[in-house]
Amino acid sequence: MSTSVVIGGTAGLGRFVAGRHAGRGDTVVIAGRDAAKAGEVAREMGPTVTGIAVDLARPHTIAESLRTVERVDRLVITAAFQKPSTLTDFDIDEAVIAVTTKLVGYTEAIRVLRDRFGPSASVVVFGGLAKERPYPGSTVITTFNSAITGLIKTLALELAPHRINALHPALVGDSPRWAGADLGHMTARTPIGRLITMDEVADAVDFLLDNGAMNAHDLFVDGGVLAQ
Ligand SMILES: NC(=O)c1ccc[n+]([C@@H]2O[C@H](COP(=O)([O-])OP(=O)(O)OC[C@H]3O[C@@H](n4cnc5c(N)ncnc54)[C@H](OP(=O)(O)O)[C@@H]3O)[C@@H](O)[C@H]2O)c1
Repeated sequence: MSTSVVIGGTAGLGRFVAGRHAGRGDTVVIAGRDAAKAGEVAREMGPTVTGIAVDLARPHTIAESLRTVERVDRLVITAAFQKPSTLTDFDIDEAVIAVTTKLVGYTEAIRVLRDRFGPSASVVVFGGLAKERPYPGSTVITTFNSAITGLIKTLALELAPHRINALHPALVGDSPRWAGADLGHMTARTPIGRLITMDEVADAVDFLLDNGAMNAHDLFVDGGVLAQ
């Protein structure tokens, strides 16, 4: 029996990935900031899923929050605080939450869980295409997604022989984040003529998790956006 832990699994891409793993019979632990919400989402997903509260923006609490996780075969971390802000409206408190979540929180969660890794366990952490394609207001987002590249390189050495990779999606057209948004301008900039999908992102997550040769890589799932 394989155990997947998805931090950020209560919504969006994390929830989709967790649902896929649950659907094939894995034991799945999903985590978000709120215990009641995590429990409710887990119940909706099925009997092999449990929900726990973990707040990556409060790194000192992470070890205690993950206490009940006994084993990890696949660790996926998608959680993000992602609110664009330009220098004109720069919000220091939000920037600290965003950077802490992605960099300190991701690292601490992996540190805490590594002793519970099964023999073939591997890790996928999420960045985003803003790493390579900044836009006005993306300074914090571009910075923390760029730092994810450094994180996987050093953690690949520390976690060896376990593997860690980063997945950087372009805008995911059918993700809840963009529900109701007019994304025509982004579709026009995507060579495949449409936006990428959650299913394609989940496929790429499974590839990184399961292919034993993939380690310390940034995988861009972008429909060709970076070709331009
Ligand atoms: N969707 C896209 O088009 C897109 C494109 C490029 C990159 N990405 C990246 O993909 C990842 C997932 O994006 P998404 O659209 O799926 O996001 P989302 O729908 O906003 O979901 C974010 C998840 O993270 C959890 N979370 C937020 N802050 C947390 C914290 N401090 N501690 C623990 N959990 C926390 C949320 O749970 P609670 O609210 O329950 O705490 C939720 O489950 C992000 O890293 C994002 O930057 C997404």
